Amino acid sequence: MLHDVISIRDFEKQDIERILALAEDMEPLARTGSDLAKGKILSSLFFEPSTRTMLSFHAAMERLGGSVIGFSDTDTTSVKKGETLADTVAMMERYSDAIVIRNPLEGSARLAAEVSRVPVINAGDGSNQHPTQTLLDLYTIRKEFGRLDGLTVAMLGDLKYGRTVHSLAYALSMYDVSLVLVSPTELRMPPEVIRHLEETSVPYDEIMRLEDMPPVDVVYATRIQKERFADPNEYEKTKDAYRIDRSTLTLLGDAKIMHPLPRVSEIAKEVDTTPNALYFTQAGNGIPVRMAVLALLLGVVA
Ligand code: CP
Repeated sequence: MLHDVISIRDFEKQDIERILALAEDMEPLARTGSDLAKGKILSSLFFEPSTRTMLSFHAAMERLGGSVIGFSDTDTTSVKKGETLADTVAMMERYSDAIVIRNPLEGSARLAAEVSRVPVINAGDGSNQHPTQTLLDLYTIRKEFGRLDGLTVAMLGDLKYGRTVHSLAYALSMYDVSLVLVSPTELRMPPEVIRHLEETSVPYDEIMRLEDMPPVDVVYATRIQKERFADPNEYEKTKDAYRIDRSTLTLLGDAKIMHPLPRVSEIAKEVDTTPNALYFTQAGNGIPVRMAVLALLLGVVA
């Protein structure tokens, strides 16, 4: 197992399989709790807003019997006085047994891992990577379909800045899948990800209109992320590009709809009660998957 979880590209397929198997074992403990990580402390350093990732890491650590220290608002920390990321991490590694970090700068988690002797988990570094989101996405798909191989997965929305779809595309390339990439021209999947799909012989189509969607097993929708756009005009042009509601859902057949959340307007609330909606189940799977990641990095399971 890796010392840190920084990029899904650092993973071998066997690492992913091990985490997915352990997450299944963690399911009962995610309800009852355990003392597997009793006495261990997780540092939670969130330089950017988060609901699911931060709080599911906290819940996961507590369900393992450990505890959490950290911040979600740098205004209350010495970052406000100009302390560097490296110095902040150098402190927290002395106060805890593992660090989970979200920071808007691409490469920030890698930098933290270089400074820290305790394991570092990337909870999102700018538009780059969000590896534990990917692990819970894979876990959710496999739980729903009983397999990953043989599926067609569509990724919809902001494929340019969306770190979740970057990580997921890399991970799915280890399996026998086909991809459909649906985005406005301005928000196409970055060339380096496309290059990787080609190098790994993953069949993919790029389309722009939801109406042109072929039959797929999963639609992985994403939010058009206002906070990532340097040019507000570009955001205005694309923000309402796609909306899944009862009427557009008819184009998607039985496809399961996933979304890393938060959603804004891209999935209507009326979809929540349809058999297609998988996104809240997906978010819930964050607990056993993050318990598995923490347990492995902390060395509290074999
Ligand atoms: N999926 C996800 O990263 O959600 P948060 O931004 O709420 O953590």
